[in-house]
Amino acid sequence: MTVSRRQFLRGAGSVIGGIALADALQLASAQTMKMPARMTMPTLAAPNVSLLNPTTLARFVDALPVPPLARPAGHRAHPSYPGRTLPYYRMEMRAFHARLHRDLPPTPLWGYDGRSPGPTFETRHGEPLLIEWVNALPTKHFLPIDHNIHGAERSRPEVRAVTHVHGARVPAGSDGWPEDWYEPGRSASFHYPGAQEAASLWYHDHAMGITRLNIYAGLYGAFNVRDAEESALDLPSGEHDLPLMLCDRLIAKDGKLYYPVSDDPSAPWVSECRGNAVLCNGKLYPYFDVEPRRYRLRLINAANTSFFDLSLSPGHAFTQVGSDQGLLEAPLQRDRVALYPAERADVVVDFSGMAGKTLQLHAGTEAILEFRVRDRGHKDTSQLPAALRRVPRIDVASAVRDRQLTIGEQDDASGNPMMMMLDGRMWSDPISEKPVQGTTESWSFVNVTGDAHPIHLHLVRFQVVDRRPFDLFAWNAKRVVRYTGPAQLPEPHEMGWKDTVRADPGMVTRIAMHFDGEPGRYVWHCHYLEHEDNEMMRPYQLLPA
Ligand code: C2O
Ligand code: CU
Ligand code: CU
Repeated sequence: MTVSRRQFLRGAGSVIGGIALADALQLASAQTMKMPARMTMPTLAAPNVSLLNPTTLARFVDALPVPPLARPAGHRAHPSYPGRTLPYYRMEMRAFHARLHRDLPPTPLWGYDGRSPGPTFETRHGEPLLIEWVNALPTKHFLPIDHNIHGAERSRPEVRAVTHVHGARVPAGSDGWPEDWYEPGRSASFHYPGAQEAASLWYHDHAMGITRLNIYAGLYGAFNVRDAEESALDLPSGEHDLPLMLCDRLIAKDGKLYYPVSDDPSAPWVSECRGNAVLCNGKLYPYFDVEPRRYRLRLINAANTSFFDLSLSPGHAFTQVGSDQGLLEAPLQRDRVALYPAERADVVVDFSGMAGKTLQLHAGTEAILEFRVRDRGHKDTSQLPAALRRVPRIDVASAVRDRQLTIGEQDDASGNPMMMMLDGRMWSDPISEKPVQGTTESWSFVNVTGDAHPIHLHLVRFQVVDRRPFDLFAWNAKRVVRYTGPAQLPEPHEMGWKDTVRADPGMVTRIAMHFDGEPGRYVWHCHYLEHEDNEMMRPYQLLPA
């Protein structure tokens, strides 16, 4: 079944898979709702692709892959570090095949070092490194490019890539500016100063207009930053500390990835992409053999648009120790962990006393991963201290300015396709956000759409200040923000450092940050990849002090 783009986006009376989209959107915009109802919306299917029914797959028959660590290929000099050499990594993006499940034929994918997720980078505060990101991909894309999208015109090469380390504090030239993509056969050498606190970052493609397709194809991986203060805590480490990268995909019966399209073959873009099965580190429904001890799992939502509502088997809870940009002040017991695209939760799960038992990780109501606890006679020497790290609150009164920025959507002149916009501006409009290095600002995201959007800023870490409901009618009529209720403080798990924030519909979501880092041109955007690719991304310029 296909649905016209207009129906799909606007949903006026349209019914997709038996659920009225208008109802779903209306539900999603109810401010009291924690989780948008659209999360349960069925996905689109093309008429001539026969999608796999994941409920037919045997559960927990493949071992959970743990991505190998990236290894430096040597040491090299860099102009910023006269008289010394830096570890040099060479990371090739390649096409490959992998079995997503024992009973599926191998799936064609793209990945860093020929795997997905790619190898995990292990880095330390104060230890700079060089990475040469090599585009060794084929010259034809295997997913549907929309050439109407800015930056993906027919005049451009089909296959383009540029890597961004999400959450890294890097000079602009190494940040992966979306228009600095390059073709197969070329590479870019980026420099990562490591001037930031311990955090669970991740890397992924960021090529203008096709990021959603490149990441969907498999171009993502984990990037850990450690520091002495964190190491001194004795949290679970080594093989007991691993990334768990989650993303959903639509998988066809022949094992191939299917990316949804609109019913207009000349304009295939769709506003969201939700899968029918969740990949855990690249496998469907894997199992993970664990010892009866603590583990540290770095949960990363690497999905295009899907949100994951994660929980363990009844009676078990996560202990969250960190969020996007590092440790929380204190461990937090949580029955459920909700992650929007690009958000991370660093959690400790304690399997002690569970030898011989199993435990499952659920996304919504579905078990996606099984832990099997086996005693191998090792002692758990890890700790879970009561205090982790101080997270001084940014005083929002010290902000030199507050920028009010809308999160909106728009039809084009013919009233048909919709695009998503930030502050009512297009990617190519002149830069309007020009913070000055060393200053503190607050940004207020006025979400006038019916959905939550995960908003991400490059370069800086921020804090969530508050969320406040406003009158959408007053906004539509007069373009004024009239608050309809008191400001709501973030929940405890949002009190740590963040780089991606959920901006709820009908709310003004305010964040505050100190603009450290090198002056230059960076981006901020919605991390729904379909939105990001279609105008929901803006440049910003960090001006020198
Ligand atoms: Cu996850 Cu602009 O990045
Ligand atoms: Cu980023
Ligand atoms: Cu969005």
